Amino acid sequence: MAAFNVEKITHVHHWNDTLFSFKTTRDVALRFKNGQFVMIGLEVNGKPLMRAYSIASANYEEELEFFSIKVQNGPLTSILQKVQVGDEILISKKPTGTLVHDDLLPGKNLYFLSSGTGLAPFLALIRDPETYEKYEKVILVHGTRYVSELAYQDLIENELPNHEFFAELGIKDKLIYYPTVTREDFHTQGRVTTAIETGQLFEKIGLPRFNPETDRAMLCGSPAFLKDVCALLDAHGMKESPRMGVMGDYVIERAFVEK
Ligand code: A2P
Repeated sequence: MAAFNVEKITHVHHWNDTLFSFKTTRDVALRFKNGQFVMIGLEVNGKPLMRAYSIASANYEEELEFFSIKVQNGPLTSILQKVQVGDEILISKKPTGTLVHDDLLPGKNLYFLSSGTGLAPFLALIRDPETYEKYEKVILVHGTRYVSELAYQDLIENELPNHEFFAELGIKDKLIYYPTVTREDFHTQGRVTTAIETGQLFEKIGLPRFNPETDRAMLCGSPAFLKDVCALLDAHGMKESPRMGVMGDYVIERAFVEK
């Protein structure tokens, strides 16, 4: 049996010169947990060229959605960025990943800490009812270089809070969005790590600093981002889940950027 399903592109959206999103058809047998990733790719010179991508759509949705960078000389994304509705795409049959609810100990506040396309798995998780059933506050932190990279703002700020189902789950009170930009003017500026260190993040959202008794976190971003955010969480006494299937105060996934 082949390791990949052949799916079709159903929608493409370019955010700017460096980022785009697309949707695909979904095999009825593909099951996944919100926060997981699959391998996706194209056939290049007769061979599948595959890269890991977090699934940005929720697991109850009919189609799959992905959020990608465009790397000019990237083996996959230089081609992938040109896909059109109707084109074929390969998608692996076995989703996996560490950013799952099951691996976090029970808590009160859940932080989603992301940089760049590390936002992707959290787009599935903020559309997961379990997120709001399990936590009192859900804080989505997204750090980018430029304002145009703050993708999905409308989904986060308008669409979801006004969605009847999520409104019933109390999303308007629960979901807090903290976007921050490092290389141009914006109402919130600076690195995510700086916002944690200075306490600016906590001041702005009206919550106390990280506390292992109440707070849980999921991280997705560049290797440098993960290293520095982990060090801050560790300094607050938070413990990383040691491996899949074992609970901790936080879990991490690398944003898969070498595309
Ligand atoms: P900066 O502009 O200061 O490098 P990238 O696209 O390189 O992954 O960066 C996405 C965002 O993450 C940028 O705002 C970048 O800030 C920030 N960033 C990069 N490295 C780190 C780090 N080690 N800790 C916190 N934020 C980081």
